[in-house]
Parts: sequence; C-alpha cells; structure tokens
Amino acid sequence: MRIAVLGGGPGGLYFAALAKQLDARHEITVWERNAADDTFGFGVVFSDETLGGIEHADLEIFRAMRREFARWDDIDVHFRGTTSTSGGHGFAAMSRKRLLAILQARCAELGVQVLFHAEAPDAALLAASHDLVVAADGMNSATRARFAGTFVPDLERRRCKYIWLGTDLVFDAFKFYVLDTPSGVMQVHGYPYSDQASTFILEMHEDVWQRAGFGEFAALAEGFAPGRSDEQSIERIGDLCADIVDGHELVGNNSRWISFGTIRCATWRHENVVLLGDAAHTAHFSIGSGTKLAMEDALALAACLHEQADRDVAGALAAYEEERRPVVASTQRAAQASLEWFENIGHYAGQDPHQFAFNIMTRSRRVTYDNLRLRDPEFVAGMDRWFGSSQDSGADPSPPCPPMFQPFRLGRLELANRVIVSPMDMYSAADGVPGDFHLAHLGSKALGGAGLVMTEMVCVSPAGRITPGCTGIYTAGQEDSWRRITNFVHDHSRAKIGIQLGHSGRKGSTRLMWEGMDDPLPDGNWEVCGPSPVPYAAQSQTPRELTGDDMVQIKDQFTAAARAAARAGFDLLELHCAHGYLLSSFLSPLTNQRTDRYGGSLAARLRYPLEVFDAVRAVWPQDRPMTVRVSATDWHPGGVDVDQAVEIARAFAEHGADGIDVSTGQVVSEEAPAFGRSYQTPFADRIRNEIGRKYGIAVIAVGAISSYDDVNSIILAGRADLCALGRTHLYDPNWTLHAAAEQGYAGPGAVWPHPFAAGSRRPQAGRMDEPRPRLELIRSGEPQTAHARWRPGRDGEAAASVAPQASGAQGAG
Ligand SMILES: Cc1cc2nc3c(=O)[nH]c(=O)nc-3n(C[C@H](O)[C@H](O)[C@H](O)COP(=O)(O)OP(=O)(O)OC[C@H]3O[C@@H](n4cnc5c(N)ncnc54)[C@H](O)[C@@H]3O)c2cc1C
Ligand SMILES: Cc1cc2nc3c(=O)[nH]c(=O)nc-3n(C[C@H](O)[C@H](O)[C@H](O)COP(=O)(O)O)c2cc1C
Repeated sequence: MRIAVLGGGPGGLYFAALAKQLDARHEITVWERNAADDTFGFGVVFSDETLGGIEHADLEIFRAMRREFARWDDIDVHFRGTTSTSGGHGFAAMSRKRLLAILQARCAELGVQVLFHAEAPDAALLAASHDLVVAADGMNSATRARFAGTFVPDLERRRCKYIWLGTDLVFDAFKFYVLDTPSGVMQVHGYPYSDQASTFILEMHEDVWQRAGFGEFAALAEGFAPGRSDEQSIERIGDLCADIVDGHELVGNNSRWISFGTIRCATWRHENVVLLGDAAHTAHFSIGSGTKLAMEDALALAACLHEQADRDVAGALAAYEEERRPVVASTQRAAQASLEWFENIGHYAGQDPHQFAFNIMTRSRRVTYDNLRLRDPEFVAGMDRWFGSSQDSGADPSPPCPPMFQPFRLGRLELANRVIVSPMDMYSAADGVPGDFHLAHLGSKALGGAGLVMTEMVCVSPAGRITPGCTGIYTAGQEDSWRRITNFVHDHSRAKIGIQLGHSGRKGSTRLMWEGMDDPLPDGNWEVCGPSPVPYAAQSQTPRELTGDDMVQIKDQFTAAARAAARAGFDLLELHCAHGYLLSSFLSPLTNQRTDRYGGSLAARLRYPLEVFDAVRAVWPQDRPMTVRVSATDWHPGGVDVDQAVEIARAFAEHGADGIDVSTGQVVSEEAPAFGRSYQTPFADRIRNEIGRKYGIAVIAVGAISSYDDVNSIILAGRADLCALGRTHLYDPNWTLHAAAEQGYAGPGAVWPHPFAAGSRRPQAGRMDEPRPRLELIRSGEPQTAHARWRPGRDGEAAASVAPQASGAQGAG
C-alpha cells in the first residue's frame, strides 16, 4: 500500500512504524512541518495498561521507551498545609522529545520516509495518489477542517486556563498542589518524566486567571513569534509557586495559556482518509494523556489494516473506528468529569483535607472507593477512620465501617445508614388506597436494611393523581392504610419511612406505566391543570391554567395531606417539586409562561412552590424533617439548568428545608438527558458543595447509582450526604444488607432482622471458574503481534506474558 501520514507527532510516527513493521512492502511517507527536534511539551504519561499494549506491539520501541521511564506509584495531594498520599497507581512517564526521537529512529530503521520541515500537501490530492491517508495532524487538524462536512467536528472550549511548563525539580510522585490565593483557587499538576525534570502545569478558572493578572500577560504574548513562551506569566508563576519549586527553575517551551478544547467528531473516516489522535478527539490532560490515546489509536489502526489485509481499506477503517470509538468516548466522559471538577475546584476549597484528597482522586468517577482500596488499603482505611470521626451524629467509631454505613441525622431524624429507597410509583392502588401490595413492597424494602424508605408520590387529591393506580392521602381510609404500613416499618425494622407528597399537574390523567407512560387514558379522563396551557406531549391534554383560587385550593389540599401524613406516622415528608408535576412545572420556564406574579423570573416561578412549602412546613410537626425533590436540569435549552437549580435549592433551604433530593428531567417530553452511571450526581455535588454545607442541609444523590462502591465513593467524597436507589431496590429489596455482607460489615449500620439472621452470610455457590493457568499464553512473533486484542495462541507459536493491570488510572499529559 501507498500510505500518506500527515503529521509526525507520536500518533503519526507510531502508526508509520507499526504499519511498516507489519508489512515492509508498504510505502509510507510522513510529512512533518517542524524540524525533527522541534517539539513542544515536556513529559508524557502512560499507565501500566497502555504500556502492556505498546510492549506487545513493538518490542524495540517499548525497550527504548522503558530505558527512559520515570516510574512512580504515589499521588500526593497538597492542600491547606497537609499532604495526603495514595499509593499503588503505577505510572510511567518520559520526555516527549525523547519519545519522538525514539519513534523517528524506529521509522528510519524500518524504511519509513519522514519529511521534516515539510508542510503536508492537500489531503484530497494525497487521497487520490495514495491507498490510505492518515491524518495525524493534531488538535488543529487542517484535514479535519478540509472534510468538515463528513467529520462534523465539534469543539467545546472550557473555562479553565492552563499553561504547560517544565522544571528541573524532580518530583517524587504525581503531585497536586492546591493554591488558595487572593485571586482564587489554582492547582498545579506535576509529575517527573526523567531523573532531571518534571512537567509542571498550572491551571485555574478563567475568572481567577483574570483576577491574577495573567490575562494581560497573555494578551501581550499573543503578539509574540511562534516558539516564544509567555515569560512574564512564567516569572509570576515562579513567585506564586516559590514554596513548591523551592529554588528550582520553571521553564517554558512555546508555553502559552490555553483554554482546553474537547474535540469530538461524528466520524473519523472520509473515503480513504482517516483521523487519528488529537485530530480525531481530545481529552483533558488531567485524566489521560493525549499521547497515550494517539498511540493507542495508531496501534489499533495498524492492527486493523493488517488483520483486514484481504479486505478493502474501507473495511479496515470501519473496524478501527468501531474498536476505538467506545474507548475514546469512555475516556472523554471521564476526562469531562475531571475537567469540570477542576473548573469547580473553588467549591471544594472548604472541604476537610482528607475529604478533598479522596474527592480529587475519585473526580472522574473511574477511580472509586474499592479501586483505591485495592491499590492502597491503608489510604482508604485512613479515610474511613477520618469519616467516622468527622460525623457529629453518633458515628460508628469501630472500624472498619464503610462510609455508607455511618449513621446520619437528617434534621432531627436519625438514620442508621446512608441508603434511601427512592420514591417509586407502583400504580397499584384502587381509589388511591395503598393495599397489601404496598405493605409488602415497602415492608420488604424496610426489612432490607435501607436507612430510609420513601413512599411513591402520594397524591393530594383525586385530580392530582398521575394514573388511576396512584395512591393518595385525601381520605380517612387512605390515611388508615398508610398507618398500617408505617406501623409495620416501625415495629419490624430499624428503617424510617417518609412520604412524598405531590400533585400531577399537566402530567395527570394518564395510563398505568406498563400500559403507556404519559399517554392519556382511553376513557374516563379528568381535567388536568398547570401554570400555563402548555401540553406535555403531542398526545397530552392541554392543561387548564390555574387561577389564584385554584392555587389556594391546591395548597390547602397539600396541608390537609401533610396533617394526615403526620397522623399516619410518617417520619419525614418530601415535597415533590421534580419531574414536571405541578410544583415542578411552576419552576421551569418551559412550562410556566405566566405573566402574573407566579411567572417570569426565577423568583416569581419559585413563589407558588415556596408558598406550598411554607404552608406544609407550618402544619408538619417541627421535629420531623422535610425534604424537597427537584429536577436540577430540564435537559433542554431554555429550561432549568444547574445554576438555577442551586438557587432553587437555596430558596428552599432558606425556607427551612432539611434536605434537597436532586433528580433531573422529565419536565418536557423533548428532553435530551445524558444518561450514564450516577449521571445525576454532579448536580447533587454542585448543590451540596455550593449551598448544602453552608445551610447545613442534607443533599441526596439519585439516579443510576447501583453499586455499594459508588455509594461509598459519593458519600466519602462529599458529593452527597445520602444516596437514593430506585430500580436497584426493585431488583433486590435486601440490597443494603447484601452490601454489608459483601463488604464484611456487621455493625449497627446494617442489622439483619432477627428472623433473617441465619441468612446473613452470602450463600455458598458451586465453583464456576476454571482453575487459572499459572502463565497466560499469547501469540508472539511477527506479524500478528501488533494487535491489542489478544486471543490465546492458535498456531502453536506462543509466549508467556503477564496480563496488563486493570485500567482506571488517572494521569496527566
Ligand atoms: C502546548 C502543548 C503542550 C503539550 N504538552 C504535552 C505534554 O507535555 N505531554 C503530553 O502527553 N501531551 C502534551 N500535549 C498534548 C499532546 O501533544 C497531544 O495530545 C498528543 O501529542 C497527540 O498526538 P498526535 O500525534 O495526535 O498530535 P500532535 O502531537 O499534535 O502531532 C501533530 C503533528 O502534526 C504536525 N502537523 C500539523 N499540521 C501539519 C501539516 N499541515 N503539515 C505537516 N505537519 C503538520 C504538527 O507539527 C505536529 O508535530 C501538549 C499539547 C500542547 C498544545
Ligand atoms: C417504577 C418507578 C416509579 C417511580 N416513581 C417515582 C415517584 O413516584 N416519585 C419520584 O420522585 N420518583 C419516582 N421515580 C424515580 C426514582 O425515584 C428515581 O429517581 C429513578 O428511578 C432513578 O434512580 P435509579 O436509577 O436508582 O432507579 C420512579 C422510578 C421508577 C423506576
């Protein structure tokens, strides 16, 4: 094949070397506009997992790299005069300059033609004269722009500024230094890359950056010729970080301030042109090095071309994209979480140094409590001890106690642990009366160990029901039936039970969930109402706009329901202001288009929900807590966003809420949620760290939190005080007890009911796994060695290898 490679960075050179190594007949030319030794950047980082792939692909390159490696295991977090060290991370780094020199030498040895000082010809011309064009021309790829119609690139610029520097101080670990300066919080990411030097990146929010005066220096530097660093900034950084660099020098290398840009493309292929590395995608440096991703791309592309040699180039490129896209998407998701964490670092500056250290370590959500425990059990044990001692509600002092089993005081209500059974409508009531089904459902969840069991949304009136199967608390019979349930929970478990009160608003009069969620009833519909006559979906009824009298009447229904709930013995009351039901639809500008005092500004949209809250708070017993469930985003442009959600939470906190239960969406049918593991937790995190701690209210995270590892991570990092789990409890009513058994915990945070005690150990299971071979056999030798996806040897040619370590490491570069 004739292959043109645009760009002689790590991606382009590594691909060229691998492809040539796999088939010496390929004619490969690399165009690089810079000189061979003319490179920016300092150290590049690799996790053990990446190194495994590189080792198997080309031993020559790996050996040369290995000779250069600075290796370390520890991550040190320096925060407010303390240093927390977490071990077992397994990183290696080397100089980018040396990496390029190794790759250049290998290309030369294999017969790849590398043209330096050579601007690449137009990609369309190359595409016509070559079998394959590999565009490895970096973040500002001209090729990507040339075929933008096919690639559909998206560039998301973020609000942090960073500058990449080097220092002759050799760090002994990966370092995070958090600087609490008069201009705001800044952070240093530092790591050694040789026995003589370290990478030193300073990053901060652009507001902090402006306040610190860096904006002026950067404006001056814009006029500099390429290659010249922003020396004024570097000098100022030297002063700011004098304690860190300790007399050592900070040096630039074409170093200027940058706002990180995340590149995403709809596809990486255009006929026989393919994007690779930074040209195709970028991921914030704080989680995975761009170099690592570019080299992994190169490895996959070379392997796909080789494996599919009998097929056409298009098939190989399709296989490459299919293999790499999920890996890149996952890295970009984690990088995005990490990037946003650093953007908001100012919110965490008040955290205890222990919590801060755990928080920064788990910021991308890839590294978790269990993951850290595996790497460094003592670090996590120390965190557990600190967390236990930091709690003011009679915490369990006897370690080991995972954070999820620490007790919690919500208002004056004592909860045995941090797990809540999230409210879930069962659509199984007749005339609003909870029956035997509800007793069994809620009773089993209470026996299952959760600290707090929430009812489904209990409706305040017949017209306030979502479906004919919804429960209510507007008749004496309903109240009596609820009392039967609260009595059962109190008599037979240590759980508390809370009621969620709500009114369906414009989402009422619909079919049971399993017959057609949000679809109007086939017959027997009742009139629905809302702040404005805007239907939920095309098939929905248009709601009647509520008058002032209607609003007073509904408020009275809420207070009557609250009184009944208090008599029925509930321990907690949650006001449902989420998911597009009546009170939620007042909060969202998408559903509230009123021009009176209840619509318009956020303060006006909050008015009615707050009036209802105040009225309920006035009749709900003062010693029992009240929480509010909110949708922290409408997942739709023009709707409620996280900034407004913080203000909504603040308003309820100021009116006396004891907790905010942070859900999202379901407000408009045209929403576009970004689902994923614990996808709503960042909203809880923001609310807790911006206002929750200030007002001393509890914040509840919910949504796709299903592992005890995630619950422990969320609680310990201070992203929420409590975690609500919904569907997971439908799967396993005993989820909390099982989580205790799995973690070997048998303290007061998870007590098995006496009649169940005999089942408190995980049952024995037959052995399912095969005995592991002492050595794993993989194929070695040419030409198959390039592929990262290994299968055991087929052809008898085999070599012993240690499997690469688990992934999940975070690093810079
Ligand atoms: C200032 C800065 C410092 C960085 N420092 C580090 C660091 O220390 N460690 C780290 O891991 N990552 C660093 N990165 C990120 C890292 O460079 C990339 O993620 C990684 O190099 C991606 O590899 P690549 O081969 O895809 O692209 P690049 O390394 O960007 O390589 C692209 C190459 O294409 C060449 N090129 C582009 N257009 C043309 C053209 N038309 N004709 C000819 N040649 C062309 C460029 O000169 C460049 O050499 C840094 C990025 C920047 C912007
Ligand atoms: C069957 C079902 C019914 C639900 N009913 C309610 C409800 O009545 N009130 C409410 O606030 N949320 C309700 N939810 C949302 C859950 O409380 C929870 O927020 C959501 O399921 C996400 O959490 P999970 O991923 O742990 O399930 C319901 C969810 C399910 C699955």
